[in-house]
Amino acid sequence: MDNQTISGNLLRSKFYCCPICGNIMHTMGEAMISCCGVTLPPLEAEEMDAAHAIVMEPVEDEQFLVVNHEMTKAHYISFLAYVTSDRFQLVKLYPEGNAQCRFQIRGHGYLYLYCNRHGLMKQKI
Ligand SMILES: [Fe+2]
Repeated sequence: MDNQTISGNLLRSKFYCCPICGNIMHTMGEAMISCCGVTLPPLEAEEMDAAHAIVMEPVEDEQFLVVNHEMTKAHYISFLAYVTSDRFQLVKLYPEGNAQCRFQIRGHGYLYLYCNRHGLMKQKI
């Protein structure tokens, strides 16, 4: 079977964000997603840039992640996600909150960050 036709690989995760209501959806492959009557294209993940760099430090059996980024209503980190081939973790963040979370980092995968102004970014881990 052609590898392209195997569905359900988390490493090919797609994220969709509704610009009207802020709904966030995650799929393991491309899908037709619509929200608030609008068809949403999958977000294109850019490489993580310096302004959105994630700092990690071990805490107990987890990693504590911090993003030095403003968290105002106009400009904030909306979520962080950690994806491997068999696991998906997402932490929703909110304006006026802290741009930080804890993940159980196990194995290689991707860290995703979504900034409401600068969009989706990812980094290999
Ligand atoms: Fe940003």
